[in-house]
Amino acid sequence: MSVTVEMATQASDELVQAMQKLIPQLSSSNAPPSMEELNEMISSGSSVLFIARVENQIVGSLTLATFRIPTGIRAWIEDVVVDESARGHGVGEALNLAALDEAKRRGAITVELTSRPSREAANRLYLRLGFVLRETNVYRYTL
Ligand SMILES: CC(C)(COP(=O)(O)OP(=O)(O)OC[C@H]1O[C@@H](n2cnc3c(N)ncnc32)[C@H](O)[C@@H]1OP(=O)(O)O)[C@@H](O)C(=O)NCCC(=O)NCCS
Repeated sequence: MSVTVEMATQASDELVQAMQKLIPQLSSSNAPPSMEELNEMISSGSSVLFIARVENQIVGSLTLATFRIPTGIRAWIEDVVVDESARGHGVGEALNLAALDEAKRRGAITVELTSRPSREAANRLYLRLGFVLRETNVYRYTL
């Protein structure tokens, strides 16, 4: 299975439809992004939407967020998802490697992500790629 990864440069019907298929495989509580929301992400200097293709079909996506804070450039990998039919062939790995490259290019020294322990394939993948479990408390405030 030959995988290519690209950074999305414009929203399109193809991208909206791909998100409608992918996002429910990641989250049952968040609706997939609309064309307008995709455009907002793609035109933002702080988020990069990576798209993975196999045989020209979009089979996965990942978003990298980078922003400057007083101690440097912070980078976060978010919303990693690969279509069920394409899992286990390195698509997730290719998406992460592309994001790590781009984070480095943007000046980040470290890249963060979170993943629930129940996401076994994801946690295995991150450890295999060299992410190290960080001992910290993760808090969430719901607005
Ligand atoms: C996590 C996820 C993105 C990995 O994508 P992927 O393209 O299968 O990734 P890779 O092929 O690079 O590696 C996945 C691992 O799962 C294994 N795997 C094999 N077949 C699999 C299958 N049918 N389903 C899931 N994982 C499988 C792979 O062998 C690999 O294991 P390894 O790291 O021990 O070698 C994908 O499983 C997914 O979208 N899961 C649902 C959403 C999710 O949990 N996202 C992560 C949020 S933090």
